[in-house]
Amino acid sequence: MKRDKVVVTRRIPGQALELIEAKAEVYLWDSEEVPIPRHVLLEQVADASGIYTNVSDKIDKEVFDNAPLLKVVSTMAVGFDNIDVSEATKRGIPVGYTPGVLTETTADLTFALLMATARRIVEGADYIRQGKWKSWGPMVLTGQDVYGATIGIIGLGRIGEAVARRATGFGMKILYHNRHRRPEVEERLNARYCSLEELLQASDFVVLLAPSSPETYRMIGEREFSLMKPNAIFINTSRGRNVDESALYRALCDNKIWAAGLDVFEEEPIAADHPLLSLPNVVALPHIGSASIATRTKMAVLAAENLLAGLQGQKLKHTANPEVYDSV
Ligand code: GLV
Repeated sequence: MKRDKVVVTRRIPGQALELIEAKAEVYLWDSEEVPIPRHVLLEQVADASGIYTNVSDKIDKEVFDNAPLLKVVSTMAVGFDNIDVSEATKRGIPVGYTPGVLTETTADLTFALLMATARRIVEGADYIRQGKWKSWGPMVLTGQDVYGATIGIIGLGRIGEAVARRATGFGMKILYHNRHRRPEVEERLNARYCSLEELLQASDFVVLLAPSSPETYRMIGEREFSLMKPNAIFINTSRGRNVDESALYRALCDNKIWAAGLDVFEEEPIAADHPLLSLPNVVALPHIGSASIATRTKMAVLAAENLLAGLQGQKLKHTANPEVYDSV
């Protein structure tokens, strides 16, 4: 019997690739950093039963139209805003994703950005390298306290909860805003639910972890930054599209807020000459929230398992569009 063909759009951990190769013919775009060119993707999906993708590919109607044999799309990510899930659903194609396995690693990185911006870690490291360190100075590189401060978490899903758990270790007061209240988290972590306005006005750290959707597009913009405290530090480890980056730039330049830690951007990669990157109080990272060796391996293997289940017509472990199974 002819084996299914799978398009793997990027070099992935060997363990995951071996799982797929054991069951399918693989077209691998074997690059660590360069995304598969659009024309190659469109050409390769023409006879493919599966697509193994990641956050940097756009899997839209055109891709689905070009892939008449497609049985499954599997992304090595918890976010799937790069995939037109409703197009997949229309065609009965399940979309796999990888929640759970990256929660703690992404919460670690979120906290790392929070610490780095509060205590000016990157500025301090540059200061030494650039030979600027003359002596201990009472006012040199003074930052904000993390211990005992108020953290406001927008989007209290798995990762938001894991960030809140870390915040308890720093004696932080925890506020959150979410689509629905989480009474068990409120009780366990002493977190208080509040409106977005109250959170923005009261928090020393505003941490954005909402998933990207049409409703969250640029949900943090000029009005929201103007509500924040002048000492507020804004952290985004969700999606760049959730923030109006020009408004963020203006808020930082006008000292409306104190600093920002960003792992995600509206355009990725962000241009090296982007105005945000010219500001010393911005710590910017290249979308590495889940990037530990162990976690990326777990994500890759889980995405491979989702893919193989889809090829075999079985339910995926995690499906972004479980409604595809309703009619079966
Ligand atoms: C990364 O951003 C992910 O969604 O896993």
